[in-house]
Amino acid sequence: MLQNLLFKGDNLSALKALRKTHKNKIKCVYLDPPYNTGFDRDHFSDSKLSKDWIKMMRERLKIIKELMQDDASLWISIDDFELYSLKMLCDEIFGKENFLANITWQHKIDWKDYKGKFQLDHTYILAYRKTSSFEFVNNIRPKTVWHEHEVGGRIDAINESQNLFGNENIFSTPKPQKLIEYIIKLTTKENEIIMDCFSGSGTTGAAAQKTGRYWIMMEIGNQCETHIIPRMIQLKKLKNRKSSKKRNNSSEGNFLYFSKPMYYPSLKRAILQ
Ligand SMILES: C[S@@+](CC[C@H](N)C(=O)[O-])C[C@H]1O[C@@H](n2cnc3c(N)ncnc32)[C@H](O)[C@@H]1O
Repeated sequence: MLQNLLFKGDNLSALKALRKTHKNKIKCVYLDPPYNTGFDRDHFSDSKLSKDWIKMMRERLKIIKELMQDDASLWISIDDFELYSLKMLCDEIFGKENFLANITWQHKIDWKDYKGKFQLDHTYILAYRKTSSFEFVNNIRPKTVWHEHEVGGRIDAINESQNLFGNENIFSTPKPQKLIEYIIKLTTKENEIIMDCFSGSGTTGAAAQKTGRYWIMMEIGNQCETHIIPRMIQLKKLKNRKSSKKRNNSSEGNFLYFSKPMYYPSLKRAILQ
């Protein structure tokens, strides 16, 4: 049952498939969706009508909630373009009483000219719990502003991406691994499951792998093959070289790969084997 899983394709189909196997099984969800900035990126498009972006998120968040354990939490990276619509949507789906925080991630430098004049040096992470049974691990009480020197910033993320994939293949909007590791350690214990439905270059899987958690990732673009798979295979090799003694499934780094939605129905059979 406990397996790392990677789905290539639209996350809505993958989420529907997981309904058959992972209802109430996921301990932490991290999402880094396209922010709907209106500017398409190298690796994905990022311009929908706001109402279409909200509809897209609503459909997915409803199923994500079903997959979460009662004591699970949800973390969504977002910026000013859709923050307010996303907050209202999450209040609608999870309930205002389950809002945990709107964290400011001070990632420091952005070369973009923001709204004509400002230098954008932060974005947000909206955090919700599924029910009141959620607790931070070891009763930690995190702050609501996270600084670059604490959890990594944009430059760290870009350097990581450059080291992993080379200048040619750097991912356009990576998050620093340390940021995701921080969320994972705040909210989960070893061998619990973290899910990321907009995986990009696979930072969440790498962070889960490093901290001994199981991961589920979904990615619609070719970065599934050009970034995520090579990254996870490289980590698996490194880990297995280092830890020859005590190993569990998650730290071995094996994963099941569903390369097309037509294979998703075989999920149940595959994880029971
Ligand atoms: C902002 S990037 C995520 C970056 C990631 N956090 C990282 O560190 O590399 C968003 C990703 O979501 C993917 N995506 C967008 N819509 C999707 C969908 N419907 N299903 C699956 N993936 C999707 C895009 O292709 C893109 O790679």
